[in-house]
Amino acid sequence: MKMFVVFVIHVHVSQHASAVELYEGEEFVLLPCEYNTFDIDYPTVVWSRCDLNPQTVHQRQQEGDELKDQNQLYSGRTSMMTDALETGDLSLNLTKLQLSDSGTYTCTVSALGGQWRLSDIRLLVKVSQHASAVELYEGEQFVLLPCHFPPLDLDEPTVVWSRYDLDPPTVHQRQQEGDELKDQNQIYSSRTSMMTDALETGDLSLKLTKLQLSDSGSYTCTVRALGGNRKVTEIQLQVKERFPPWVKVLLVLLVLLVAGLVAVGLLVHFRQYFMSVYQVEVDSEVKSVLLPCKTTAHLPEDVTVEWRNSYNMKVHVYKNGSDQPEEQDSFYRDRTEMKRNLQRPGDLSLTLKYPTDRDSNTYTCTVYSRERDILMEKQVKLWVRVCQVEVEEGAESVLLPFKTTENLPEDAEVIWICDEPKPTKTVHVYQNGSDQPDQQDQVYRDRTEMKEDLLRTGDLSLTLKSPTDRDGGRYRCKVYNMNGDLMRWKSVVLRVKERSRNRSSSADPTPLMADQPV
Ligand SMILES: *[C@@H]1O[C@H](CO)[C@@H](O)[C@H](O)[C@H]1NC(C)=O
Ligand SMILES: *[C@@H]1O[C@H](CO)[C@@H](O)[C@H](O)[C@H]1NC(C)=O
Ligand SMILES: *[C@@H]1O[C@H](CO)[C@@H](O)[C@H](O)[C@H]1NC(C)=O
Repeated sequence: MKMFVVFVIHVHVSQHASAVELYEGEEFVLLPCEYNTFDIDYPTVVWSRCDLNPQTVHQRQQEGDELKDQNQLYSGRTSMMTDALETGDLSLNLTKLQLSDSGTYTCTVSALGGQWRLSDIRLLVKVSQHASAVELYEGEQFVLLPCHFPPLDLDEPTVVWSRYDLDPPTVHQRQQEGDELKDQNQIYSSRTSMMTDALETGDLSLKLTKLQLSDSGSYTCTVRALGGNRKVTEIQLQVKERFPPWVKVLLVLLVLLVAGLVAVGLLVHFRQYFMSVYQVEVDSEVKSVLLPCKTTAHLPEDVTVEWRNSYNMKVHVYKNGSDQPEEQDSFYRDRTEMKRNLQRPGDLSLTLKYPTDRDSNTYTCTVYSRERDILMEKQVKLWVRVCQVEVEEGAESVLLPFKTTENLPEDAEVIWICDEPKPTKTVHVYQNGSDQPDQQDQVYRDRTEMKEDLLRTGDLSLTLKSPTDRDGGRYRCKVYNMNGDLMRWKSVVLRVKERSRNRSSSADPTPLMADQPV
């Protein structure tokens, strides 16, 4: 802090005043006064300002400071040399300068013998060139913007706090009658206040509450009176974000992470409620269908993936880093593929080859940790439409199609039956590497044919010759292995249409009449 020592040369009896100018907030100013008090009995030195009441700024007697009459504006801010009365240096040290310190200071020595008015010093404390600055963080409860002005005998004084970068600029206004806020800028609505006795005490400080970033700006405290306006102080308020942006970003990420963990926890906990069910619908003639099961979650390397159907049959098992075909049900053997893609480790989708109506089911894809905890579970509903074949009565033959995987086991048994309408009839049997005509129902004798080498090619289609309307119904082809386990199954619904009479009548307009005997 700069020191302002004013050298006024020995103003013993002086009527002309010296002047001192400085800025508010300075640490101290020394107001000079010298007099040889050594010869005076019981001298009293009084520093005063005649514009104040009480007028006393500081008082020194033989016994020491006597401050009971001191004006409260100077409380704790004045001092004189301890040995002032011995040395004659009666200078006043005034600290923590305020705008309200502006005024004329008189140094007076009085004694039994008389009174000597020694010096008048005009002190002008100016608004700081570098407006004082206040920095704080958003969300603070309040800030006090200081403004002090001696309660001069102004006519109808008005105190206005303003921000000239706003429109309207008024932040707060105080008049003799009280607050006058009709011109107040709305962003300060009910957030400003001043001391109730501000105009009496000269403490015009503004209390601003619930600080916001938008409160940053330059605040001016102005006293208006009939004699003219006087800018008392200007304060730069800077409301800063509580956290720098990168901390905010970090916090947001943390919150998201925690929320994500909670969500994952909830999902694991209530997975039956949150499970999304895919629906897939295909024709029975497609070569394959994809049952999707994907996660963006990072799965450990050593997970176990199990695909099951709603009968809890194992459709596909992936464990120990590879497929486990020996664990899956024979019905799905050689028909499933779960390609683990290192680029997309969360993709556990299952390819089911040659789906048939028998595959219509709800499939559950479950991912287990090594400890057999369920990490994820998803469901896929698959609907494979039943194969429909239509043929006109009298056609040479009709094909009931069934293509499945190649290289079925050589000991597989293939049976075509017709179970609708009842009773169930055996249509065709292929066993021990050859057709077994003695096992088929009479009505199909010599009318059925299967492809050569059917187990190797996987083409289990049946040709039915000379279909009639009695052949209409539901056919099923089942494949069993040597142990009697079901390996394949497909339904084909055959509709045999009557030969259209309309078509023949359009060819011959009067067939009935032609048939009639003449
Ligand atoms: C005035 O008082 C202040 C505060 O006590 C002190 O720091 C400063 O040195 C004093 N100035 C002089 C000239 O004594
Ligand atoms: C996984 O593989 C290891 C060695 O390759 C074997 O010891 C372990 O039994 C396998 N676990 C299962 C469940 O198959
Ligand atoms: C098929 O072969 C098995 C054993 O090889 C035999 O037990 C069975 O009777 C044979 N079936 C027919 C229909 O020949």
